[in-house]
Amino acid sequence: MQIAIDGPSGAGKSTLSKQIAAKLNFVYIDTGAMYRAAGLACLRAGISIRENPEAAAALTKESDIDITLSETGQRIFLNGEDVTTLIRTPEVSMAASDVSAIPAVRLQLVDLQRKLAASRDVIMDGRDIGTYVLPDAPIKIFLTATPETRAKRRHLELIERGQACTYEEVLADMAERDKNDSTRAFAPLKPAPDSILVDTSELSFDESLDALLAIIKERL
Ligand code: DC
Repeated sequence: MQIAIDGPSGAGKSTLSKQIAAKLNFVYIDTGAMYRAAGLACLRAGISIRENPEAAAALTKESDIDITLSETGQRIFLNGEDVTTLIRTPEVSMAASDVSAIPAVRLQLVDLQRKLAASRDVIMDGRDIGTYVLPDAPIKIFLTATPETRAKRRHLELIERGQACTYEEVLADMAERDKNDSTRAFAPLKPAPDSILVDTSELSFDESLDALLAIIKERL
């Protein structure tokens, strides 16, 4: 069984997907973490991704990006180093968005994502899961919320993690990433025609979770 969850950042994809996975005994796969690991590799190597996409693609190709899946969650490794926490910075978010626009990088990581989904019940979140990675997934949800709501949530998350940033910075970063992710040529962020749209702007976390569980249980 495959459940595809797509949508822009801050819509609640990962927190909701984790809970759903725990309740339904599915494995949660966060595909954004893979683009983040590739972005981190480029940042560390000093590669300007927008100016030199060929170098970014070459570096990603020679990097070993891998994840381990368990009940306690996913861990992501870059060349054997656990970078699960390191990839959660605004700088890496932007690098991930930039590197994800490169077709060769997408093909490499989509290959890994499909392999991971092939042999287990998964709930996978990203931007192109329903449209490109798992087009035959029987359940596809496109989660969204207003930019202001999403920025507020993401800002809170970053503050809780001890990262200094303002709401305005988060809102501006998010707008840039949304634009990047939805206007790239290859597998852009967009709802699959057969996806169910859920807007979480006016919903609490529990209400969002109930809404998704109702949709999923009806189709399981
Ligand atoms: O979900 P996230 O914010 O961790 O993702 C980081 C970036 O990776 C996002 O800006 C776009 C890219 N991404 C993508 O292009 N396709 C995916 N399936 C997941 C993420």
